[in-house]
Amino acid sequence: MGKDSDSKHARVTLAVLSVFAGMALFLPGAKQAASAQRPMAVPPPPMGWSSWNSFSNTVDAKVIMDQAKAMVANGMAKAGYQYVNIDEGWWLGQRDAEGNIVVEAKAWPALASGERAGDMANIVRFIHALGLKAGIYTDAGMDGCSMYPDLGPVYQHVGSEGHYEQDFLQFAKWGFDYVKVDWCGGDKEKLDPAAQYAEIARAIGKAEAVTGRRLYLSICEWGNNSPWTWAANVGGAPADIWRTSGDIVAPIVPHEKHSGRLATFPVVLSNFDQGIHPEAEHTGFYNDPDMMVVGMPGLTDAQNRVHMSLWAISAAPLLAGADLTTLSDAALATLTNPEVIAVDQDSLGLQGIKVASYGDGLEVWTKALSTPGERAVLLLNRTGDPATIAVNWSDLGLTDSSPAMVRDLWARKDLGSFNSTYSANIQSNDAAMLIVHGSEGKLTTYAPAGADGARMDQEVTFTHVSSRVHMARVRISYTNSEKAPRFADLRVNGRSATGIAFPPTGSDTTAGAVWIEALFDREGANNVLSLSPISGPGLSIESIAIE
Ligand code: GLA
Repeated sequence: MGKDSDSKHARVTLAVLSVFAGMALFLPGAKQAASAQRPMAVPPPPMGWSSWNSFSNTVDAKVIMDQAKAMVANGMAKAGYQYVNIDEGWWLGQRDAEGNIVVEAKAWPALASGERAGDMANIVRFIHALGLKAGIYTDAGMDGCSMYPDLGPVYQHVGSEGHYEQDFLQFAKWGFDYVKVDWCGGDKEKLDPAAQYAEIARAIGKAEAVTGRRLYLSICEWGNNSPWTWAANVGGAPADIWRTSGDIVAPIVPHEKHSGRLATFPVVLSNFDQGIHPEAEHTGFYNDPDMMVVGMPGLTDAQNRVHMSLWAISAAPLLAGADLTTLSDAALATLTNPEVIAVDQDSLGLQGIKVASYGDGLEVWTKALSTPGERAVLLLNRTGDPATIAVNWSDLGLTDSSPAMVRDLWARKDLGSFNSTYSANIQSNDAAMLIVHGSEGKLTTYAPAGADGARMDQEVTFTHVSSRVHMARVRISYTNSEKAPRFADLRVNGRSATGIAFPPTGSDTTAGAVWIEALFDREGANNVLSLSPISGPGLSIESIAIE
């Protein structure tokens, strides 16, 4: 074990490794190379739109074309929204003699000359031509959710079980960039989701190798089997999302039989709460509290802003579910606020955590951002009355002794410089979304225990670790000389592992850092953190630093 102050932290290079193989590898007192603190950008949560909430299984090419065009015309694409995701209802369960999916020609016609009706590549080309990306949907089981239809007839066998490699290759060849894989069939058959989704991820990997393009995986088993304990890096992908709760709303399709349904604020809050698993959200892997209902019938403008703030502070995927052709100005402004989106998309990729609560329902949430000293802060009032909520710099891991600048992200206005604390009066069921920019608190640096600690051909352990807070931010300094991410399983105090992705650092002498959040639940310096390699060579762990 080595422990040192942040500024004096030592660095282990591969050169040192080769000279001192078998000896203690930490060089106490050596000056830490600045690069060891260089945060590596990780893939941000996806942004886009999905057809389910507003179109249910009435989705077809016309719906998708209209939505894709609206996403560009209304400024959402410019604000960062890019995926146009076709959810359930595009396929009716028919396969040909070779097991290929048969697509309904009428719903998915030719869109340009030379195209064949019933070819999903048509709609993908249309979406891509607008500079957007295309998403598709299937189920991990034999049947899909169409066996319990929200609208229209029952369709059987709308799932991919038995055809994983064939279907995911087909999606990739059609040109799709994203696939959501539901669990209705898997659930019915009582399959093991961790095993099925790993098999799906492997099928996706094979399809990607054929087409040379990424097919992003969105896992949708509603949090029933704690996907945050197994879904990060399932099957060795550099980024994935997994649902953490049931549906945020049942579809509201105008002129159909459920058109009077409403989205509700309590379900928005409940999905947010169920999506908080900060220890699993890191390095490009995200908890998914479901598509947003901003702009759908049911929420007030203020509730839409709180909803967007909750998704942004938790770095949730920002997938709008409203009909983009009929968005109100207020809903559009909420969905496209660049400062709120920037919080969600911040390149550290960390989830917000609750750092203070006062009584029942007055809460302070914070998300560390990539600019040193910057924190997004949400002051959330879940109660029925207005209340004052205070945030203290010390709760944010910022130094108490330095003043911090405060900015209101919805008013888009600087509020000034404050000493050690800021408080605001928050209306009932409302929130303030802020950036607090102060001075970083101290981190404590640890070197790997034992001899060959830093080399990732074996487990690397950090012992006698302590932290100021239970859920602490951890900076892992490493090198990855390969061109692709490398992966390692992290365990804290022997708990179930989470698969961390380490983006390439350029060389084995240039270090970088990724940030994670981990629960240090043992008193004093009794915590143990270990990293075990789960991919090929090239990764070397130098040190960790903990708040
Ligand atoms: C499930 C999912 C929803 C949607 C529907 C489609 O309920 O959770 O997001 O995909 O299936 O039937």
